Amino acid sequence: MKVAIIGTGYVGLTTAVVLATLNHDVTAVDTDKGKLGLLHAGKVPIHEPGIQNLFDKVRHTICFTPDVAEAVPEAELILITVGTPLKNGGANTRFVKQAALEVAQVCHPDRHYTLAIKSTVPTGTNRHVAKIIEKVFAARGVRGNVSVASNPEFLQEGLALQGSFYPDRIVVGADCEEAVNTLRCLYQPILEQTFDSPSSLPRPAGYQPPPMVTTDPNSAEMLKYAANTFLALKISFINEIAGLCEKVSADVTEVARGIGLDSRIGPRFLNAGVGWGGSCYPKDTAALLGVAAQSEYAMPITEAARTVNFRQRGRIVEKLQDALITLKGKTIGILGLAFKPNTDDIREAPALYIIRQLIKEGANIRAHDPVAIQNARHALNGFPVVFTNNVCELTHKADALVLITDWEEYQNMDLKALAKRMNTPFLIDGRNVYTPQEAEAAGFHYIGIGRSSDRVRSYAFDKSEL
Ligand SMILES: NC(=O)c1ccc[n+]([C@@H]2O[C@H](COP(=O)([O-])OP(=O)(O)OC[C@H]3O[C@@H](n4cnc5c(N)ncnc54)[C@H](O)[C@@H]3O)[C@@H](O)[C@H]2O)c1
Repeated sequence: MKVAIIGTGYVGLTTAVVLATLNHDVTAVDTDKGKLGLLHAGKVPIHEPGIQNLFDKVRHTICFTPDVAEAVPEAELILITVGTPLKNGGANTRFVKQAALEVAQVCHPDRHYTLAIKSTVPTGTNRHVAKIIEKVFAARGVRGNVSVASNPEFLQEGLALQGSFYPDRIVVGADCEEAVNTLRCLYQPILEQTFDSPSSLPRPAGYQPPPMVTTDPNSAEMLKYAANTFLALKISFINEIAGLCEKVSADVTEVARGIGLDSRIGPRFLNAGVGWGGSCYPKDTAALLGVAAQSEYAMPITEAARTVNFRQRGRIVEKLQDALITLKGKTIGILGLAFKPNTDDIREAPALYIIRQLIKEGANIRAHDPVAIQNARHALNGFPVVFTNNVCELTHKADALVLITDWEEYQNMDLKALAKRMNTPFLIDGRNVYTPQEAEAAGFHYIGIGRSSDRVRSYAFDKSEL
């Protein structure tokens, strides 16, 4: 099928590579000349496991262009994958509307197109976009024939290819049968799992072909927000429990293990830590509240999930303050800048908030990340952070080490060697990667999330001896 993809970010580029692998004829449009330059040179501009490898195989079949007129007129299907960043407490749909407008300006008047919005957008955007397209056609003096559908994207950064080839479900919201059929045809190899799996991405054992959920556009748009908000509040729930565990000498990792075994609850998204970040949960929960406010409807659970999440970042700073008494002049090593492992995405990353707060309190910051340093350097422009590619350098005469992103390479560090280099070997384990026992055996004063307050008391005792 001839497909035009508007926007080649994390979602658009992944979609382009996956659809090209499935032998669709893809033209991808982006306004960012820098990104297009890299793509033309064969370089993937994002860090996403496996994507460069797959891109190398299919890039000669994908056309990348800044010009919608090169992509849209001959396409059967147009996918909009542009960003919808936060603006005034809601999602900014400006880029989606602009993309729809540009598409409508170059559509052939006598052809039928399906335009599917993959960007995450507030309920009602689909119908609004249909009106924009109608208006452009009216201004052009043509009838035009575009069916607008909603096809929300559920991929997770770090596992984007896995989630695209082997999704849990595909959701299509459309009023028109033709649009549903076009999208069913597009996804047929995935829905029936008839494609040859790329060697680097074998089909997971026991994976069953995913259902296609067809519904109306408003419900599809709402479904995406509801899914992300539910996942966000599951994490906030366990973080709230973690805070209480600290007060009553319980261990949240034990609690999570126990409740996760309940098949009604499940074990995933129950890891207490520094809280969620990234380009989706903060934005999508805020946008959902924005939609609710417009409808004069209160959503106290969603609000609480956000409150708990932002409190959680502050808890890291408080824990450091408790441990070090003052942060002024103290040297703190930060392990991890990306909002989660296996991505270079630092949008709304907890590490950025924590670093800014610590600097405000007078701390000296050294920071490491396997892939996100370049993006973080940009985001923290003006903040005196020393970035290093070497974990050991973080600890030289440092007063505390804070693990923020649970990258695999932080999971088997030589703790003994790191602790030895430090001035005061405090490890704030923001992801509960280590057990208190192993960290303490290596010479660290261990402070996790939601772990026994007895230990916290013992640090206070140790501190007086330092
Ligand atoms: N990143 C994720 O993990 C993820 C997952 C699911 C859904 N989503 C949603 O998908 C959408 C895209 O997210 P993303 O992370 O890929 O965004 P992104 O910021 O990485 O990419 C968006 C791209 O669109 C381009 N663009 C903007 N306006 C354009 C236009 N008029 N024509 C052509 N290109 C244009 C930008 O230059 C950019 O390259 C958002 O709505 C997001 O909420 C993201």
